Amino acid sequence: MSRYQRIVILTGAGLSAESGLATFRDKGGVWARYDYREVATPEGFARNPSLVHEFYNMRRRDLKTVAPNAAHMALARLEQEHRGEVLIVTQNVDNLHEAAGSTSLIHMHGELLKVYCTHCRKGCSWTDDLTTELACPSCGKSGGMRPDIVWFGEMPYHMDVIGEALEQADLFISIGTSGNVYPAAGFVAEARASGAHTVELNLEPSEGRSFFHEAIHGPATRIVPGFVDSLLAG
Ligand code: OAD
Repeated sequence: MSRYQRIVILTGAGLSAESGLATFRDKGGVWARYDYREVATPEGFARNPSLVHEFYNMRRRDLKTVAPNAAHMALARLEQEHRGEVLIVTQNVDNLHEAAGSTSLIHMHGELLKVYCTHCRKGCSWTDDLTTELACPSCGKSGGMRPDIVWFGEMPYHMDVIGEALEQADLFISIGTSGNVYPAAGFVAEARASGAHTVELNLEPSEGRSFFHEAIHGPATRIVPGFVDSLLAG
């Protein structure tokens, strides 16, 4: 049985890479092909909403062609079989954790399969394309529907719940994230300051490697199942 009672796992784009979804900062990644200021800021959306819709419509359509990989499956198994608490905090806006069966999950950067109306603030699930003409299903006004994605300059979701979980965690694991984007990049320091053991699982050493007690480097589909097995075996 694992010696850890409260595990917090931060995941990033590297976890979904082997499912076929591009990462952001790797060679040929999303931010090499698109200017984030145009497609991932409120100012970009105000300037050219059609371009922003096109970008997220394409990414939403991609979700229909991908499936969770062995690393997502292993994390779902950890939640099911671990005797203590497991919370996944993901920066990913895909739905692959849920598809793998994880339920203790926070999408801190929002979700591709959710939208909300900037007029009435009501949100709903959404699997189709968004357009600038679309009327809000709640208030009926057109022109205000946007993807429920946290853009640069906006506040990530559920920071209070995440902060509490990091404070109580005795194990913090970071998987497939470059450690470039705050506040997520600061979670390792927060967890460590509260006494957690900290582990990085990533293809290569991340920006924050020096903050972690331990690191295992390699593709997620290989190193995550192995790490989960060792945790469950205690
Ligand atoms: P990045 O693209 O910055 O980093 C992905 C990390 O995953 C890199 O460190 C890679 O080395 C690693 N990686 C790639 N393939 C891997 C594999 N098969 N197995 C394990 N690791 C692998 O993505 P994030 O850190 O998730 O935010 O980016 C954080 C945020 O920046 C995103 O949520 C997004 C982006 O801008 C917003 O859009 C608000």
